[in-house]
Amino acid sequence: VAEPDLTGRHVVISAGGTREPLDPVRYLGNRSSGKQGYALARTALARGARVTLIEANTGLPDPAGADIVRVGTAVQLREAVLKAAADADAVVMAAAVADFRPETYATGKIKKQDGQEPAPVALVRNPDILAEVAGGGTGARLRPGQVVVGFAAETDDVLANGRKKLQRKGCDLLVVNEVGERKTFGSEENEAVVLATDGAETPVPYGPKETLADVVWDLVVPRLGPESA
Ligand code: C5P
Repeated sequence: VAEPDLTGRHVVISAGGTREPLDPVRYLGNRSSGKQGYALARTALARGARVTLIEANTGLPDPAGADIVRVGTAVQLREAVLKAAADADAVVMAAAVADFRPETYATGKIKKQDGQEPAPVALVRNPDILAEVAGGGTGARLRPGQVVVGFAAETDDVLANGRKKLQRKGCDLLVVNEVGERKTFGSEENEAVVLATDGAETPVPYGPKETLADVVWDLVVPRLGPESA
């Protein structure tokens, strides 16, 4: 039985992967399953938290007791996160957010034309939600005292890139995992290192996503500010 050390706390968790539509049938997406975010939601509930789970395209069963908000795109995810984070003690951004979206949306299905080269797809930057909530390089939080956690999937120089990303985003903790053939995306298991702004590095060996989720909460709890009400 988990310690109820998140009782009286509101935590916001994003899960899944955004889809950025090109036309009514196509989108730019990613391989995030949402399983790590859902594991974070279940473990937070078990530890007594009020949980807002903002899910993008997961198709996973709702964790009993969480407030669920469904979104599709990065822009919708941003709106939902900013709204829910206004009174949150902690925000954990486990969702894989598309860095770019198609500049234009075709209201009719894009057709291939015989003998013609396909038109290039122009992309524009999506907002960086984590950096906005955490204050980016300035560290100026939208809500002072809120604990902000990011995730980073890296393929090389995992720790060095993770440290830089932690600073750039301005979050308190960054869960860094190496993306590989068997690891991370869609799998039931994960292996990661949790980096903290004070320099602490907590390695989490290969194991269930629930175990990693509990390590994240173990590191969040001592960083929480006083209870608001
Ligand atoms: O920069 P990168 O995509 O590697 O950062 C990953 C972290 O930042 C994740 O926590 C993800 O949820 C968050 N993110 C975001 N908005 C973006 C891109 C990433 O909040 N546009």
